[in-house]
Formats: sequence, C-alpha cells, structure tokens
Amino acid sequence: MPSKTETLLSLLNGQPVIPVLKIANIADAVPLARALARGGLPAIEITLRTADALEAIRLVASEVEDAIVGAGTILDARQFGEAAAAGSKFIVSPGITRELLAAAKDSDVPLLPGAITPGEIMAAREVGLRFLKFFPAEQSGGIASLKAFASPLADVQFCPTGGITGKNAADYLSLPNVICVGGSWVAPDDLVKAGRWDEIEALARAASKLGR
Ligand code: 3PG
Repeated sequence: MPSKTETLLSLLNGQPVIPVLKIANIADAVPLARALARGGLPAIEITLRTADALEAIRLVASEVEDAIVGAGTILDARQFGEAAAAGSKFIVSPGITRELLAAAKDSDVPLLPGAITPGEIMAAREVGLRFLKFFPAEQSGGIASLKAFASPLADVQFCPTGGITGKNAADYLSLPNVICVGGSWVAPDDLVKAGRWDEIEALARAASKLGR
C-alpha cells in the first residue's frame, strides 16, 4: 500500500490545477465534477464553506467514477473526520494546527495543510510533511516568496492557492518547488449557477494543459 505522501504525490502530480469548489446548490455537485473530469481535472477540492459540502462530497464520491474528490477548508479534527467519512480522498486545510495533525496521523487520508512562513514550513517538515498548500498565495508574496523558499527549504513542494487565475497559473507552475496550483477560476459561480457545464469543461481543458 502506498504511503500517504506517495498518494498525495501522485494526486498532485496528476494535474497542474486542482479546482477549488464552493457548492451552493447540491444539484450542481455531480454535473460540475463530471464537467471538470471531462475537461481533464478529475481531482477536485470541495470546500466546507457551504451547508451542503459534505453531502456534495458524498455524492461525487459515489456517483462520479472518474473524480478524485477531496475536502477543503478543513479547520479542525471533527471536520477532518466528517470529510474522510464522506469519502474524501484528500484533505486540504488553510493552515496547520496540532489538533489537525493528530487527526491526520490517525487517518489513511492524506492532509495537504497550508503554510506560509519559514517557521510553519519547518514545523510541517518536522512531522514528515513534504507537500504544503501555500495560502493565500498572492497575498503572501506569491511567486517571489516561493522563489525565496526554493533554496533553504528545498525538499518541500507547494500547491499555491488564493488569487491564482488562468493568467498567472503558468508562472507559478514554472517554479521548481510548485507541484500544482489550486483555484476557483475554473468553476466560476455564474457559470455553475447557469449550469453552463460545457464552458466549465472548456476552462478545465485549458487549465489541464497549463505548464505541460
Ligand atoms: C482556497 O481555499 O484555496 C482559495 O480560497 C481559492 O482561492 P481563489 O478563489 O482565489 O482561487
């Protein structure tokens, strides 16, 4: 059985962009996940920012064969457990807490926690984490900060999210310590609301080719 780090590596290596989703209407979850998978982005992060998020994860996990559904905006151990039980294949959190690390240690589901300072990154390294979310990327020094981390923190790779768009994603992806990026731009609220799945598929297809 692959280790959690190996599982996370193959997941993050698998596509340049992980869509970050906020499901306001439960009926959107399955067609949205299908459109993104058709466009070449099967791994998606459904954030726990809406009431239906856990149900959305459950539905996508059971109904969209191609999808690799993860949970985002996980803030504590309770949410970690609920997201894992709903079928999440990976868990993303905006930062690192002791409680979250303990929950992750007891679970087979890999955690991608956020870190933005050298101290946070070093603390994550100490517990064996090698892949981290860099959030909020644009507000935290963006490309310049990641470039500065590359030499002193050479064995850590990042998935920057927050302010990444089709315009700057390729620049992030060109950095040696960026394994993939995350963002909501591939599933804009207005297109989701209008059920314009073909347009979302096209956005996903363009994103899936970035940095390749
Ligand atoms: C996240 O949680 O990763 C971010 O909120 C996504 O940020 P974006 O909406 O700026 O892409």
